Amino acid sequence: MAKVSLMRITPETLDECVSLKVANHQKEFVAPNIYSLAQAAVSPIYHPFGIYDADAHYRANPSMVGFVMYGISNARGFILRLMIDEKFQKRGYGRAAMIEVIRRLKLHPEVERIATSHDRKNEAAARLYESLGFVDWKHEARTGDSGERYLILQEGSI
Ligand SMILES: CC(C)(COP(=O)(O)OP(=O)(O)OC[C@H]1O[C@@H](n2cnc3c(N)ncnc32)[C@H](O)[C@@H]1OP(=O)(O)O)[C@@H](O)C(=O)NCCC(=O)NCCS
Repeated sequence: MAKVSLMRITPETLDECVSLKVANHQKEFVAPNIYSLAQAAVSPIYHPFGIYDADAHYRANPSMVGFVMYGISNARGFILRLMIDEKFQKRGYGRAAMIEVIRRLKLHPEVERIATSHDRKNEAAARLYESLGFVDWKHEARTGDSGERYLILQEGSI
C-alpha cells in the first residue's frame, strides 16, 4: 500500500505545487492550487500541504505528487481540496493522503467531526470517499448547492 508524507508548502516548493496538473476532464472537480494557496494565505483556518511518496521524500529533490488542504472551524475538520498530479494517479496516493489527513485531524482536540465534499459527477472521488467511511451529510447550510455532495466521516471509521 502506498504511504505518503505531507509537507508544508515553502517558497522553494511553491512553483512545483502550482504546476501540478490534473487531467483536462478533471479540471472542473478541483480549484487550481494557486487559488487554494491564496485562500490559505488570507485565512488561518486552512492548512495546505504537498503530498510526497513517503519513501521518496527523504531523497534529494523528491517530487510532489499532489496537494491537499483542510480547514478547521466549528469543531469540524473539512477536507476541501485533494488532487494528485495526472502522472501519479491510480497508484494509491489519493487514498493514502486522505488516510493521513484523517489521522492528523483526529489529533486536533477541537475536531469533533470530519467532513468533505465532491462534485456529484466526480465518480472517482465518490468511490474513494465512500470506501473510507464517508456517508451523505445533510447539513442545512449546504442544501442550496445541488452540484456538490457533502459527506461526513462515520463514527468508528478508520
Ligand atoms: C480523486 C483523486 C484524488 C484520486 O487519486 P488517486 O491517487 O488516483 O487515487 P488512488 O490510486 O488512491 O485510488 C483510490 C480510489 O479512488 C477511486 N478511483 C481513483 N481513480 C478512479 C477512476 N479513474 N475511476 C473510478 N474510481 C477511481 C477508486 O475507488 C480507488 O480505489 P481502488 O483502486 O481500490 O478501486 C484523483 O483522481 C484526482 O486528483 N482527481 C482530480 C481532482 C479531484 O477530483 N479531486 C477530488 C476533489 S473532491
